[in-house]
Amino acid sequence: MIFGNLKVARLAYRLYFRRATFMTRILCAWRLLKNRLFGIRAPISVMIGVTYRCQCGCVYCGMNLYQVDAEVELSTEEIKTVIEQARELGVVEITLFGGEPLLRDDLDEIVAFASSASMLPSIDTNGLLLTPERVESLMNARLSAVKVSMDSPEAGEHDRMRGVAGCFDQAVSGIRCCVERGLPCVISTYASRENIRSGDLRRVIELGKSLGVDAVRIIDTTLSGCLLAEKHKKLSPEDRRELASMLEPGLVFLENLASARALTHPVCSAVARRYIYVSPNGDVQPCCFVPLSAGNVREDPLNTILARLWNSPVMSYDPGRCLMNNHKFRGHYLPRIEAADSLPVALEE
Ligand SMILES: C[S@@+](CC[C@H](N)C(=O)[O-])C[C@H]1O[C@@H](n2cnc3c(N)ncnc32)[C@H](O)[C@@H]1O
Ligand code: SF4
Ligand code: SF4
Repeated sequence: MIFGNLKVARLAYRLYFRRATFMTRILCAWRLLKNRLFGIRAPISVMIGVTYRCQCGCVYCGMNLYQVDAEVELSTEEIKTVIEQARELGVVEITLFGGEPLLRDDLDEIVAFASSASMLPSIDTNGLLLTPERVESLMNARLSAVKVSMDSPEAGEHDRMRGVAGCFDQAVSGIRCCVERGLPCVISTYASRENIRSGDLRRVIELGKSLGVDAVRIIDTTLSGCLLAEKHKKLSPEDRRELASMLEPGLVFLENLASARALTHPVCSAVARRYIYVSPNGDVQPCCFVPLSAGNVREDPLNTILARLWNSPVMSYDPGRCLMNNHKFRGHYLPRIEAADSLPVALEE
């Protein structure tokens, strides 16, 4: 266990701090310490959805509930304000998310702003635009890490699932470029009944190792977006045991659960108050896959909305379960979510 935790700590260092300046490391450590010393409750991480736009149409995408409208996306300046407000709360990590974040032309500027504000910025990408030039410019902006999605070890199957020919090859060449240039790189994949049982998930892990990535992150099938009504897609206890056997401390981990105890002690980062999500339109949600909004950063500052969210009944659900996969949560919120004309819906009516 001790060795496992050391490996996890080494991975956390590589992904978050390796590319940060000395001053950013000190200031991040100070923000975390200050909140602990003074008993201030704040998230460690804020995920900012910079756009809902995307070139892919993944068959399982948990984000396709939302209406794509580039006209109402937060502007560069509005995103910078969110980052500043997050820093004032004591947040250290900023994840730039989508849709596909590389579709935003101002992404480098946002990354540079976050890193110069002593935050640790990372991105999640489908890899289609992860060209050597983009890797270079993101590194110049001092990106901490990149997570590239990989759904299958086979090019044809990956492209089928993503709905874009050539997606696999682009993602692989983007990963190779990050590895060669020394930009910390993680393969992001999701665990499904199909890919656990077919052995494809294991093969994605092997592919990641052969490409030399820093880690492989596995996300549990989340019943949101395309999968909102697909209850039968939840992993069975046997699938979970098989999944557990694939985890390797410091190398293969379950989302947000980079500890060796991930499967026996799972934690929903939203309910555990470790992170919040700001949507491309400014809505503040418990998580990108949970279509409930506690308010909008265009109307209220982040700390006011955070207090509203964290004092709401949503935070009283079992932190050991994904909200969207929890039948109690679904029983309470799904009728309203399914009946809504547009999402997210207000947290409480
Ligand atoms: C929503 S995408 C956003 C970033 C980018 N478009 C991409 O595909 O990497 C981030 C990650 O969430 C995963 N994901 C999407 N929908 C999911 C779902 N319903 N369950 C589990 N993981 C999901 C994707 O595989 C991807 O690795
Ligand atoms: S998973 Fe990512 S790439 Fe696929 S449709 Fe969703 S946002 Fe786009
Ligand atoms: S609701 Fe919790 S467990 Fe589910 S995807 Fe969001 S943060 Fe992860």
